[in-house]
Amino acid sequence: MAKHEKFRFKSADELRAKSRELGIELPWSDSVDLLLQPAVIQGIRVPNRLTVQPMEGFDSDENGMPGELAFRRYGRYAAGGSGMIWFEAASVLADGRSNPHQLMITDETLDQFKKLTQHIRNIAAEKYGPDHRPFLVLQLTHSGRYSKPGGDFQAKIFSDNPILGVPHTRQPIPDTRHPIPIFYSDSDIDAVKAAYIHGVELAELAGFDAVDVKACHGYLLHEMLYAFDRSDSRYGGSFENRTSFLREVLNTPSKIIKAVRLSGFDLIPYPNGFGMKNDGSDVIDPLEVKKLISEFAPIVPLWNITAGVPRLAAHVGRPYDRGAFNAPPPDEHPLIGIERLIRITGELQRAFPGLSFVGTGYSWLRQYFPNVGAGILEKKMATFIGLGRSSFAYPDAPLDLMNHGKLDPKKNCITCSKCTEFMRLNVPAGCGVRDVQYKAGGQNGR
Ligand SMILES: Cc1cc2nc3c(=O)[nH]c(=O)nc-3n(C[C@H](O)[C@H](O)[C@H](O)COP(=O)(O)O)c2cc1C
Repeated sequence: MAKHEKFRFKSADELRAKSRELGIELPWSDSVDLLLQPAVIQGIRVPNRLTVQPMEGFDSDENGMPGELAFRRYGRYAAGGSGMIWFEAASVLADGRSNPHQLMITDETLDQFKKLTQHIRNIAAEKYGPDHRPFLVLQLTHSGRYSKPGGDFQAKIFSDNPILGVPHTRQPIPDTRHPIPIFYSDSDIDAVKAAYIHGVELAELAGFDAVDVKACHGYLLHEMLYAFDRSDSRYGGSFENRTSFLREVLNTPSKIIKAVRLSGFDLIPYPNGFGMKNDGSDVIDPLEVKKLISEFAPIVPLWNITAGVPRLAAHVGRPYDRGAFNAPPPDEHPLIGIERLIRITGELQRAFPGLSFVGTGYSWLRQYFPNVGAGILEKKMATFIGLGRSSFAYPDAPLDLMNHGKLDPKKNCITCSKCTEFMRLNVPAGCGVRDVQYKAGGQNGR
């Protein structure tokens, strides 16, 4: 296993030499033009291929209302020129919030969401003209075993997963009478499903182009995908049952475009993870991932591929230099993790060329992500290039690419995990290195 290493490359040649040394084929293009080409999703034009990945800001009020910091954050993305803005997780139910300040999409917050989508469109149109209309996606969530509606864990668990255990201890679940976790019954899941279906309708009313029925990162809908142990439930056991929640929500008659952010693999062996070979090894096997995409392809044109359960192993989905709170580095070079994400997304995009896939996990590449991203587009290994932490740090990266054809290294995300620390500390999250709003430690202006 290649050792973890911080990003110290002084040139593209050094980075590419390192990937060759690691035996990795990193897609690459010297021209970044492809990133600035428009695309079309179900008849709606997306002005370019650069996508802001969903990044929670934890700055709503107690009702989940987007506030000043959310308007600031999304205004910066709009001014920065990204073609697609994938909104952060918005909870469909108060007790499924990951944090007391997570956004919620409800009847009460609807008007404020309408103002926010309009705000984004106005800023983009003013700056780039009427042809540049960012494609807006709202991510719906229920945090399941990672719910912290009042600030402390109040896990809602569906699968008795010995690897994930109780979230704050990572111990096997000790006793079902313990106040936490709460084990969800089928009728609890039915209630969550009704809230999701309402969330889809609200997303359409709020002016989003698409709605993401999030199934990743160990949250409730992802947990159902690996609930192999719950053959006693309508939502567990067989593939049919494990995907039935998604099926019912995605088949709602609402006209809004449907999307799914999906963990393409977990690196948690079967039967405790999704997208893995069913022999209990740590080998990735997209058999069920492909089956799921193939079934939903006629109704879901947009897929955003990520991986893993961040609470267990954050580097799997977001390779970094420094882990949150100086966690010991993983036993893996960040380029290996990036290549794994590129490979699965590429395999899926090539298997389903008529669908649009957003790739994930490029922030560690700093000023070279555009070359890798354009290389990925050239090889048809994704349709959109998504940026998470980099969007916090450097929201106007697309604008710099339009104006100069390259990025300014001084504005890069340095993958220091400060934004993750803010999230864990229940304070507003943003870039504590590049964004003056958060340099004081994320406490400013909720
Ligand atoms: C502070 C923070 C908040 C995040 N919030 C979300 C979220 O709301 N929904 C989601 O699907 N992923 C979320 N992610 C994951 C990112 O969308 C993205 O997948 C990850 O950071 C890897 O991409 P990157 O290398 O460009 O940062 C979050 C990550 C961080 C660090």
